[in-house]
Amino acid sequence: RVKLKAMKAEMPVRHWATLPEAQIIPNLLAKAGVRVVDMAKNQKTSAAEWVPATKDLHLLKTAAAKCEGCELYARATQVVFGEGRPDAKVVMVGEQPGDEEDTKGHPFVGPAGRLLNKAMVEAGLDRDQIYVTNAVKHFKWIERGKRRIHAKPSGMEISSCRPWLEAELASIQPELVVCLGATAAQSLMGREFRITSERGIFFPHRWAKELVATIHPSAILRMPERYEEEYALFVHDLKLIAAKVKELDAAARA
Ligand code: URA
Ligand code: SF4
Repeated sequence: RVKLKAMKAEMPVRHWATLPEAQIIPNLLAKAGVRVVDMAKNQKTSAAEWVPATKDLHLLKTAAAKCEGCELYARATQVVFGEGRPDAKVVMVGEQPGDEEDTKGHPFVGPAGRLLNKAMVEAGLDRDQIYVTNAVKHFKWIERGKRRIHAKPSGMEISSCRPWLEAELASIQPELVVCLGATAAQSLMGREFRITSERGIFFPHRWAKELVATIHPSAILRMPERYEEEYALFVHDLKLIAAKVKELDAAARA
């Protein structure tokens, strides 16, 4: 109806006024621009269409390299997919790759990863037995001078990337999922979950027998004045996890 040439070819102008829909056209046209902007703002993004229907972790990883499920792929060097044994009993979920992970292409290989390794050794957890991944698979950053500083992923980015995490968990079917920090917990337990009050508590979960959350190692690095205390609490949580792994193993064998 808004294409005048086509209208003139189809119908004499004198009949236009009697078209019922003609009444609302001026108003629709006037507001069209605003509606387009609103539509773009409310656009739900998702990785879903890039996630192949497979339980093969290797195929999932290869496919993730092409993901454009949200805007984060555009400024990152590469996707950083989860790594570890496909039959791991425990899956650890961080937030998103950091600067070093982004360049190297592996999860938890930077400062937070080194702290995690140290704490795991102290708690008696073997990283080789654990699959390690992130809630969001591309590095989100802001420029500060010559450095790339971590930026927190939005709720939309976290939910956009969740299909990859779900596919990893559906493939591995772990006994236990460990959320490192609020982003992972938000992705798997919802926005209401609070690390401060619920860390160290084991919950039943649809993607694993149980799920537990603790602080993110990067958060410990961001509190140098409370380092000793926070590090000790982190190791304490990891020891609870090590004990839980033993318990689940024993139950599985019985
Ligand atoms: N922080 C994370 O959450 N994940 C990483 O892989 C590295 C740092
Ligand atoms: Fe896809 Fe996740 Fe990367 Fe967004 S962050 S582009 S959803 S892999």
